Amino acid sequence: MPPDFLWGAATAAYQIEGAVAADGRTPSIWDTFSAVPGNIDNGDTGARACDHYHRWPRDVALMRELGIGAYRFSVAWPRIMPGGTGAVNPAGLGFYDRLVDELLAAGIRPFVTLYHWDLPQVLQDRGGWPERATATAFADFAAVVAARLGDRVADWSTVNEPVCVCWIGHLEGRMAPGGRDLTAAVRAAHHILLGHGLATEAVRAASPGPASIGIVLNPSPCEPATDRPADVAAARRMDGHVNRWWLDPLHGRGYPEDMLATYGVQPPVRGDDLAVIATRTDYLGLNYYFRQLIVDDPAGPPPYARQVPVPDAVQTAMDWEVYPAGLEQLLVDISTEYAPRRILVTESGSAWPDTVAPDGTVSDPDRIDHLERHLAACASALRRGVPLGGYFVWSLLDNFEWAYGYAKRFGLVHVDYPTQRRTVKASGRRYADLIRAHRLLGGPPPGGPQPPTNPQSAG
Ligand code: FCB
Repeated sequence: MPPDFLWGAATAAYQIEGAVAADGRTPSIWDTFSAVPGNIDNGDTGARACDHYHRWPRDVALMRELGIGAYRFSVAWPRIMPGGTGAVNPAGLGFYDRLVDELLAAGIRPFVTLYHWDLPQVLQDRGGWPERATATAFADFAAVVAARLGDRVADWSTVNEPVCVCWIGHLEGRMAPGGRDLTAAVRAAHHILLGHGLATEAVRAASPGPASIGIVLNPSPCEPATDRPADVAAARRMDGHVNRWWLDPLHGRGYPEDMLATYGVQPPVRGDDLAVIATRTDYLGLNYYFRQLIVDDPAGPPPYARQVPVPDAVQTAMDWEVYPAGLEQLLVDISTEYAPRRILVTESGSAWPDTVAPDGTVSDPDRIDHLERHLAACASALRRGVPLGGYFVWSLLDNFEWAYGYAKRFGLVHVDYPTQRRTVKASGRRYADLIRAHRLLGGPPPGGPQPPTNPQSAG
């Protein structure tokens, strides 16, 4: 990897913080959703999670011990603006203020995600993302955070994985807010993209220092399971659903015509919305987990295409195929097709059934293999000319894996939930070794303060 490559780890607020009622935080849609029996495996909720809200100094120290250079975390909107709009809660903002100072003191570069799915419930009660007002509320929230943290935080992302927010949360009902309505989902998609564009402008305007800002998508290579024309067409629709529907408007191409026809629903575009959505960004964040093998599914939900298992695949505890070649393919294809200025792999990782051995160690050879092979895919993409700037492991800690609750462990660090004891897994040690080896090869420290891109001259 090049000397300035960012060696990162990622988390999200609702998945690790706990303390859901502390210091003026109000409920988010994930508190509401996880309270409904049947929504989350084992009835789990994020109420306690990793108790990171209280244990953050230890968690930052752990990252420092591992030599992690960059930490991607999200800020909880209902902690900072408990009413969704308007009054700011000083205690909520103060939490992130201290966290940022601690990270910088540890030589770790903070990457702040503004929306990782925890919409204030009060805004959901007014209609949530299907309503345009949520996009403007998001930009106001983003400005507040940037004004407070932007003197020390240079790296921002607006929205994490709009596919999950809109398609899984509003169409399939498997994530908060649990909607199953195509029209609402398409409206949510437009407003979340609009919110991204408005927030990009708001962060640049409000931040006292230079800001590098982008969005985080989770694209998948979509391949037909057979060469039947119906499956080939279905794979193209799934590619439209999870990839092009987002990448096209973000890069100034508007919504893909084939998908407008597939959905039969028009997004509520007004005025210069499409120009706002295509506001220039400084980088594109990619989260990568799996490819999708697709068959036609005329009776299923839009896009009338269904993922089927890859025969003989090695699968993680999520039943996701381990397929590092898909990461290299996406990096090359997306940089060729859309030419983002810079790409960051903002999440990559794997869940395995980890346990702490009697001697206190956690052996996770499958995660080490996954990590090494995905980093090799990144190295290969770099050699092929992809402007890849860094890699963030999902995740620093085992955490609340949304609808799967605590059963799925993605961490480099094991968390024993009853005691909150943290144990660095063998994969965490391996990652630390890789980082150290690169540092010894020369170049600046992995996370050391580096001048952010000047938004006016980024190119
Ligand atoms: C991604 C999410 C992240 C985590 C991983 C496993 O879709 O962004 O919060 O749950 O999947």
